[in-house]
Amino acid sequence: MKNHVEARNVVKRFGPTVALNGAGIAIAEGETHALVGRNGAGKSTLVSILTGLQPADEGEVLFSGEPAPVLADRDAWRQRVACVYQKSTIIPALTVAENLFLNRQATKGLKINWRGLRAEARELLDTYEVDVDVRALAGDLTVEQRQLVEIARALSFGARFIILDEPTARLDGAAIERLFGRMRSLREQGVTMMYISHHLDEVYEICQSVTVFRDARHIVTRSVADLPHDELVAAMTGEATVAYEARPHTPAETVVLSGQGLTLGGRYQDIDISVKSGEVVGLAGSASSGKVGLAETLVGLRRADSGTVMVKGAPVKPGDVPAALRAGLGFVPEDRHHEGFVPLLSVGENATFPIARKLGRYGIVSPARRRAKADELIKNLDIKTEGPDQPVGDLSGGNAQKVVFARALVDDPAALVVINPTAGVDVKAKQALLGAVEDAVERGAGAVVVSDELDDLRICDRVLVMFHGRIVKDVPRGWTDHELVAVMEGIEE
Ligand SMILES: Nc1ncnc2c1ncn2[C@@H]1O[C@H](COP(=O)(O)OP(=O)(O)OP(=O)(O)O)[C@@H](O)[C@H]1O
Ligand SMILES: [Mg+2]
Repeated sequence: MKNHVEARNVVKRFGPTVALNGAGIAIAEGETHALVGRNGAGKSTLVSILTGLQPADEGEVLFSGEPAPVLADRDAWRQRVACVYQKSTIIPALTVAENLFLNRQATKGLKINWRGLRAEARELLDTYEVDVDVRALAGDLTVEQRQLVEIARALSFGARFIILDEPTARLDGAAIERLFGRMRSLREQGVTMMYISHHLDEVYEICQSVTVFRDARHIVTRSVADLPHDELVAAMTGEATVAYEARPHTPAETVVLSGQGLTLGGRYQDIDISVKSGEVVGLAGSASSGKVGLAETLVGLRRADSGTVMVKGAPVKPGDVPAALRAGLGFVPEDRHHEGFVPLLSVGENATFPIARKLGRYGIVSPARRRAKADELIKNLDIKTEGPDQPVGDLSGGNAQKVVFARALVDDPAALVVINPTAGVDVKAKQALLGAVEDAVERGAGAVVVSDELDDLRICDRVLVMFHGRIVKDVPRGWTDHELVAVMEGIEE
């Protein structure tokens, strides 16, 4: 079969880091080809080279056997390849219509006609069956809507090759199925796709072939039918990996985090929740269940219309993140790019942010202690970085997520609230993060784990299932996937 896209012997260095070390990929015409590997393996770096955003230090890229255009010729690149990036490229402060025609307005050389722009945007979205208001601010869209707008934008440039870099990391089950439906129909239309994900079951569901990168190198390319799951994991990690075993916990009587009578119009109603020291409580449900809104209220990112949040028995000022942190909460937010970290600050500064402030109050920030703590966290969570002084913005997606996690843990919180904690994190790193939550719980913290991934919820002593803004069931440990999913979908109560 003809190769639609090929990268050969690509080398890419960032200072002392070798992100790609003679790696390559060959993607056949019309196939959906997975690219997998551990955090920092070089996947997104290859994406940036295949989309012409960065030059390779060595090696070549071919489209349908022809050398890739020069980097400056953006239009030529846009006609060949499009990408839904790991980090959204949509600009939140602009409307959907403006986002769709960004980069294109200039070429017309005319004054912008807003009404015409909106109509054109509407037509474009209709062509690709994307049901989103073109006047909405992109920042108000859900992750799913944002991706659909990005895909429509990509296709509208005429590209027949689309790269999806971890599109499902922040989607719930139903949205993933809708995305897959869309990918299947694109494939029927002959579109070639490269698909990056840490959810290996998705690779088997939606892809025909798979390429594995490890430590900046190409390890193997196979048809998915010829590479069983355990061999795929072994190729990624270089060793056989066993599934994570949740540990038993012994909750104390003390309640460390609670919410009483919490209601936030349109999101959740009449919620009572309490978490004991030494206990892990899960929150599960679809995107519309209200689970994320509730967790965000517990940490002060949102303010409930009524009700109280208490940490260690004392009420916390509503809607005030610093107050929640001072009261003893640690949290991992849903969207690390907005609330998670400061990209320009270093790994060490981001990870130790809470202790810096705490020490700062007494005027004794000790750089040595801070550095020691940062080194310890980098080691414990296996963060792939040049060191504590590297800006977080330069880390791979999964490693940036680990920094956010480190920050949640750094100050020995009384309670942890983590939202989709392992999003974008590879199979082995996932185990390290779940282990870190269990370590904190063994030290006496209480934890709330909000997740779309059943594997994250397995460490919970009980899972509160939410449906349309209410807690419908309190499921103790020992559930099967099928049971929990049935409750989440409201099929069974
Ligand atoms: N702009 C940059 N400056 C410095 N280092 C970089 C930069 N971009 C990437 N790197 C480094 O290159 C390596 C590969 O990163 P890349 O983003 O390609 O990984 P990835 O396979 O996409 O991982 P993930 O699964 O976590 O998204 C990492 O060590 C990363 O820190
Ligand atoms: Mg990446």
